[in-house]
Amino acid sequence: MNLPGERNLMTATQLWPISTSIQDGRLQIADCDLAALAAQYGTPLYVLDADTIRTMAARYTAALHHTYAGIVHIHYASKALLNIGIAQLMHRLGLGLDVVSGGELAIAQRAGVPLAQVHLHGNGTPPAELAQAIELGVGRIIVDNLDQLATLAWLTARRVSRQAIMLRIAPDIADGAHAHIRTGAAAAKFGLPLDDGSAAEAVRQALAAPGLELVGLHAHIGSQLRSYEAIQETINRLLRFAAEQRAAHGWTLSELSPGGGLAVAYMPNEQAGDIDTYAVTVTNAVRAGCERYGLPQPRLVIEPGRSMIARAGVALYTVTGRKAVPGGLDYLHIDGGMGDNSRPAMYNAQYTAALVARPLDPPTTTVQIAGRYCESGDILIRDVALPGAAPGDLLAVPVAGAYTLSMSSTYNGVPRPPLLLLDSGHVHVLQRRETVDDLVLRDLPLNMGAASS
Ligand code: LLP
Repeated sequence: MNLPGERNLMTATQLWPISTSIQDGRLQIADCDLAALAAQYGTPLYVLDADTIRTMAARYTAALHHTYAGIVHIHYASKALLNIGIAQLMHRLGLGLDVVSGGELAIAQRAGVPLAQVHLHGNGTPPAELAQAIELGVGRIIVDNLDQLATLAWLTARRVSRQAIMLRIAPDIADGAHAHIRTGAAAAKFGLPLDDGSAAEAVRQALAAPGLELVGLHAHIGSQLRSYEAIQETINRLLRFAAEQRAAHGWTLSELSPGGGLAVAYMPNEQAGDIDTYAVTVTNAVRAGCERYGLPQPRLVIEPGRSMIARAGVALYTVTGRKAVPGGLDYLHIDGGMGDNSRPAMYNAQYTAALVARPLDPPTTTVQIAGRYCESGDILIRDVALPGAAPGDLLAVPVAGAYTLSMSSTYNGVPRPPLLLLDSGHVHVLQRRETVDDLVLRDLPLNMGAASS
């Protein structure tokens, strides 16, 4: 398949959704013409390829069921992108959901996802949201710290059925593309450290809590992981700790989660993490650890977010203007930016782009893509080689499915873009464009007499 303006087509094909094609010289996804969609729905516009999501879910499912001898549960980490339609799609694909708040939990509930298949995470989850999760019957609560454990013990003390929990361990291993997405260090805000005795104390307290059932251990060391060794060593440390706790309390680990985090490729020269290698790494590490420490094979839970949905998404923008920069790279102004994708501003994340109407034209110039928001840091792409573009041209940015809309804001009073799911020529509107009415929905007029001002 020939794909937009990249020299290394083999690598570039990893960036665009699986059902991307070029018809009459224009970019199409799932047999839908992107220019026609932009004309109908306006820009900025986010589209998702259903085929790519299905393929990623099928790859994870096949790889893990093929390699892992025990029971495997795959939970989509919904913080990557969540709305009712996505929750329903993931459920239909046989995945559970990970949520981090009462809000995400409510979305899962309204989508009709059985809440036993939903796991709640979070380091600062307010007690009311923990209580809501228990009431609704979430499958697992992943306990982050000793205070949260105490809250849960108290909330469940008089309940008839016990709440299943896992403990989030900080294994003191960190990997990930940026300091803000490395989460596994002992000093990170997440999880119970092994070295200072917090993790062991949590096991003791969890086993003593009549309303809690400690089923297993969890760790998530970071996002955009590129080190399979780090995943392996994380699993080893969790199992070693499980063996110590079995010796101390006779408690047997029945469930293990090494979190999510597999990397995706954002740029043509990057390689995505390999799902088969990941599955073999996890399987071998669990098998080796269980043999080494004499533990039974646990149920396995994995929590991919980005690798499930990033590549399915493409963001479409309209070029609104240009600015020449003598001695530097010219700007192309677009009608979106950090409000819909804050990743470049937050993590120096890199993206590439193509012109929707001329994806295969050779680049003639290198430009910066300037977001529309009133921030110097709102540069969506620092440099990208494109054919000459003019106001009115449509720009497509691939790998836009994860941590874009889910982290979007209405900064500068810009309503958030719509989200379409494209499937074999069909368009499903998952979220309509936000309106100005939506923006002021929560606002109340000043209720203060003019005289008193
Ligand atoms: N499980 C837990 C407990 C997590 O905290 C996360 C992500 C995941 C699973 C899923 O990780 P993934 O497979 O998506 O890498 N906003 C950042 C990423 C934050 C990740 C937060 N936790 C970004 O845009 O790069």
